[in-house]
Amino acid sequence: MNEQQGGEQSGPLPRHVAIIMDGNGRWARARGRARHRGHRAGAEAARAAVEVCAEQGVEALTLFAFSSENWRRPDREIRTLMALFRRALEREGQRIHDNNIRLRVIGQRDQFPVRLQQSMAAAEALTVGNNGLQLTVAAGYGGRWDIRQATQRVARLVALGQMSPDAVDETTLQSHLCLADLPEPDLFVRTGGEQRVSNFLLWQLAYTELYFTDTLWPDFGHEECREAIRWFGQRRRRFGQTTEQLGQAAGYSHA
Ligand code: IPE
Ligand code: IPE
Ligand code: MG
Repeated sequence: MNEQQGGEQSGPLPRHVAIIMDGNGRWARARGRARHRGHRAGAEAARAAVEVCAEQGVEALTLFAFSSENWRRPDREIRTLMALFRRALEREGQRIHDNNIRLRVIGQRDQFPVRLQQSMAAAEALTVGNNGLQLTVAAGYGGRWDIRQATQRVARLVALGQMSPDAVDETTLQSHLCLADLPEPDLFVRTGGEQRVSNFLLWQLAYTELYFTDTLWPDFGHEECREAIRWFGQRRRRFGQTTEQLGQAAGYSHA
């Protein structure tokens, strides 16, 4: 893991940060505005998170923008979100590219309007060669859907006789999940006060450090994003081992 240079950060830097950007509607309501104003402000906050992760040298950032369950929202809100999403891709695509960021979209994208799908594909194609921050937007995404689609791909290999059922292990399944080529998230952030995962990255969050804040997403600015990263630096991850084992491995003494 990288050690962060300078600033107040002393612990390790997360390689992969995953964020549930929640609270746009309440942010708008608190200001007597329509929910879509909150979504528009939320798009600005997403830019701040991208900037902080890029500045700090985080390798991957995954943003939950629209869940498979968000299709249950009123049609009008869904239409506004789709329009905002397309505008953000078209407006920010070049800026993302100029900053050497690679953008990808995960989820059931065939459910989105065709023009939005085209904007997604265009932003991905523009940034495909970039090796800076790996930015993933989860849209029409659900953790259960992800595990299902991975299982189907493995089942196809078995049905074709290319793999034995006994050979299917966790690595096999993992390699067919959406974020297979990225390290698993080290730091999960959820804004908006709820302390739940809401069908985000179910498999991938097995050992992720969980950071919850009451701050509503549009108010989650650069400084609070840095604060979450600093908080991660203070965690002691054990992955099932004892503190003593880890202390020995790292050469610390534990009184
Ligand atoms: C998150 O904010 C954005 C999406 C889910 C698209 P919400 O729209 O869920 O905001 P709240 O939770 O109602 O405040
Ligand atoms: C989770 O937020 C999904 C996104 C932020 C995209 P929700 O607002 O949809 O979650 P619930 O319904 O409160 O669990
Ligand atoms: Mg919400």
